[in-house]
Amino acid sequence: PPAVSPGQDPAHTLEELARATDRCRDCPIGEHATQSVFGEGPLHPALMLVGEQPGDQEDLAGHPFVGPAGQLLDRALEALGWSRDALYLTNAVKHFKFELRGTRRIHKSPGQREVLACQQWLEREIAVVRPRAFVALGATAARALVGRAVPVMTERGQWLAGPEGVPVLVTLHPSALLRGDPAERESQWQAWLTDLALASRYLS
Ligand code: URA
Repeated sequence: PPAVSPGQDPAHTLEELARATDRCRDCPIGEHATQSVFGEGPLHPALMLVGEQPGDQEDLAGHPFVGPAGQLLDRALEALGWSRDALYLTNAVKHFKFELRGTRRIHKSPGQREVLACQQWLEREIAVVRPRAFVALGATAARALVGRAVPVMTERGQWLAGPEGVPVLVTLHPSALLRGDPAERESQWQAWLTDLALASRYLS
């Protein structure tokens, strides 16, 4: 017999969790999304990056951070010299929430109800992946990891205590930079890289 039964194999457990989130109807948004978008990356990584929820493109592709926010994140990873393959990327909420305007699907931020309904999946994912540290991208992720409302603009660049005391670095969500004042884009970009670079110590 195999040394590790399928039910105990962490990679298999993650696949099962991904399938279970796809079927999840604990809140209404799963009904309308194309599919759930579960986290991706290695087990026991140095860092788990947590976003808010999949966007339009992630919903269609079934992979996290592949749309405009993901492309900005990729540019940051490149600037920092971090390999995306070494990181585990996920979201606090696993389904895309949107409002239909004609044929366009307009992103809607998840409410506390959806975040709380999805909390069990994030916790189970963390228990299997077991990162050394987290990066919370934006307020939704920060709240889900730290367990209280985190004012991102005042606590950005700080390490807070996350699940089981594992450190959480708080910073902005890439979409906040995309939406930001164009005149401040360059300074916001540099400030974001400065925040993120604080997590480099876990990657060496
Ligand atoms: N925004 C997120 O928070 N997560 C994604 O996967 C894509 C966009």
